[in-house]
Amino acid sequence: MAGAKEATQTRVIESLLGSRKYAATAPETVTALVRLEASNHKSAKALEKAVRKHLHNIMAPYLGDPDYPQAAIQLTEAFAEGQSQANTLLLEFLSMHESTKERLPILTQFFADIFAITGVPNTVLDLACALNPLAFPWMGLANDATVYSYDIHTERIDFLNTYFALQGIPQAAKLQDLALELPTEQGDVALFLKELPRFERNYQKKGWRMIDALNVKWVVISFPTVSLHGGRSLVEHYRNYFAEKAAARNWEYTELMYPTEMVFVAKK
Ligand SMILES: C[S@@+](CC[C@H](N)C(=O)[O-])C[C@H]1O[C@@H](n2cnc3c(N)ncnc32)[C@H](O)[C@@H]1O
Repeated sequence: MAGAKEATQTRVIESLLGSRKYAATAPETVTALVRLEASNHKSAKALEKAVRKHLHNIMAPYLGDPDYPQAAIQLTEAFAEGQSQANTLLLEFLSMHESTKERLPILTQFFADIFAITGVPNTVLDLACALNPLAFPWMGLANDATVYSYDIHTERIDFLNTYFALQGIPQAAKLQDLALELPTEQGDVALFLKELPRFERNYQKKGWRMIDALNVKWVVISFPTVSLHGGRSLVEHYRNYFAEKAAARNWEYTELMYPTEMVFVAKK
């Protein structure tokens, strides 16, 4: 019996990792979700359907992606011409994912404001990063800074490491499921941008467990100011939410407000 269940789960894992939509997902993420949903769904079909639904929320493919292999070729060519050609292309890629697209009008100001509070970091942890590390040229960091960047999308992580190599900084992008494996890297500042509420929802409230375990001096947590679909203001809700969490940790923090994003910069 146990063997049959195991075989069903293996079949579903293989089917998902062989599918066009989820082939680039970290195998440990797919495996963990299949194991999680297996107790609720007996048949392979029902199990796969449930995991696909979960993966849709987690990977958020609707937020957008470049064609990564093509993007790597274009970026290599642009860097051969120079940093300004590369920057033009980086902005184009940043506009292909909703989170970074929204940040484009305030990109330089955003990081200048944050690092004015924390001091300019040498080592940054960018948690659930998506394409944000491509904003490196606008972060105002030293040329030899390290940006540890964590995501569960294989092609995205490979692309970020290609970019880091071209930029001449450490290839510090990591395929790592932060709900399964906490980051152990030490850093000055951790960025957890526009993901905490989804992370709490998708991973049984493991977001704060991760934040509390971070080996950093500062944590920067941001939230959208309006809901993705309804345009409803979320400002008061997240302000109160964060105040409560910070109070429980005795944190001092600063709030930064932008049209589409509110940011809390907290000293750990
Ligand atoms: C809304 S995007 C965040 C974008 C980015 N932080 C920003 O603000 O530009 C969410 C990202 O979290 C990643 N993600 C989801 N679950 C994850 C996990 N368990 N570990 C690491 N990354 C995860 C997704 O792949 C996606 O790229």
